[in-house]
Amino acid sequence: RFPRLCLCVWYLAKLSSVGSIRDEETCERLRGLIQRQVQICKRSVEVMDAVRRGAQLAIDECQFQFRNRRWNCSTLETMPVFGKVVTQGTREAAFVYAISAASVAFAVTRACSSGELEKCGCDHNVHGVSPEGFQWSGCSDNIAYGVAFSQSFVDVRERSKGQSSSRALMNLHNNEAGRKAILSHMRVECKCHGVSGSCEVKTCWKAMPPFRKVGNIIKEKFDGATEVEQRKVGTTKVLVPRNSQFKPHTDEDLVYLDPSPDFCDYDPRTPGMLGTVGRQCNRTSKAIDGCELMCCGRGFQTQEVEVVDRCSCKFHWCCYVKCKQCRKMVEMHTCR
Ligand SMILES: *[C@@H]1O[C@H](CO)[C@@H](O)[C@H](O)[C@H]1NC(C)=O
Ligand SMILES: *[C@@H]1O[C@H](CO)[C@@H](O)[C@H](O)[C@H]1NC(C)=O
Repeated sequence: RFPRLCLCVWYLAKLSSVGSIRDEETCERLRGLIQRQVQICKRSVEVMDAVRRGAQLAIDECQFQFRNRRWNCSTLETMPVFGKVVTQGTREAAFVYAISAASVAFAVTRACSSGELEKCGCDHNVHGVSPEGFQWSGCSDNIAYGVAFSQSFVDVRERSKGQSSSRALMNLHNNEAGRKAILSHMRVECKCHGVSGSCEVKTCWKAMPPFRKVGNIIKEKFDGATEVEQRKVGTTKVLVPRNSQFKPHTDEDLVYLDPSPDFCDYDPRTPGMLGTVGRQCNRTSKAIDGCELMCCGRGFQTQEVEVVDRCSCKFHWCCYVKCKQCRKMVEMHTCR
């Protein structure tokens, strides 16, 4: 049986070993999807491979953003069983939901632009001459399509629960905040045409920010996330800041319901709760990557390890750089 609280998007990423999702039959075999998602999968088989790539993107970005923290997104390696870490209403869960929803929107939009899908292409609403006087031309990313697909596919899990639980409200809010991290940071990219780079004619198109930028934005929102609680306003339930002194969160902020555990110790009953024994730490840093905080006061060990680096690089005419390989000893600190 599939664990009750799995996050389907992550599960899809793990299917990379299964190969691509090509036919409707595969949709039936994707464990972890709810019935409504199987229907969407069948209806949009051609989009599902992009969804799978998106999920992988989200995992990679999560592990990058959390590489120097006690919880390093490792829970996701123990899929399909999710630890409480992600399934509880913590700040970490808020990040995971936001980055997943964003990554699906991003990957689907990419697929539209690259012409691999029949259902969508470039954004044709972007055309003509802009007020600034440049010509819209080329392929503008169809972010509206990617966002709509993410909303229908990723959010359907929460919507099917009736939007009443505070967890569902939290997840939906954070999914939307994740997608906003792309929507609010769309950029205009341009190319100049004319004699030797003179910009007589400029053509421009709308492009998504690189996914690393999206990850950085959502990580910033994680750092400033708002603790909320459910309140009834009339007949609808809403999330409001737990501390009424705090200014209300916006659509782009992350929200969470439960405080995070300290992530210090290994807990065999909580998948993904690996503890910080053996983690590398920075001896001079006072931040969370420093040995004091990372090792939760248990102390650390120091080893001399040999690293191989490029050095004495020389530029050769024309045009390559040749380097030597240097070996040097560096100190590496790991938590006890
Ligand atoms: C995360 O930390 C655990 C130990 O707590 C380690 O085994 C794992 O390799 C780390 N994962 C990443 C992606 O750094
Ligand atoms: C360790 O932390 C210090 C201070 O924050 C920083 O300057 C240094 O680059 C860090 N070292 C490594 C190896 O990350």
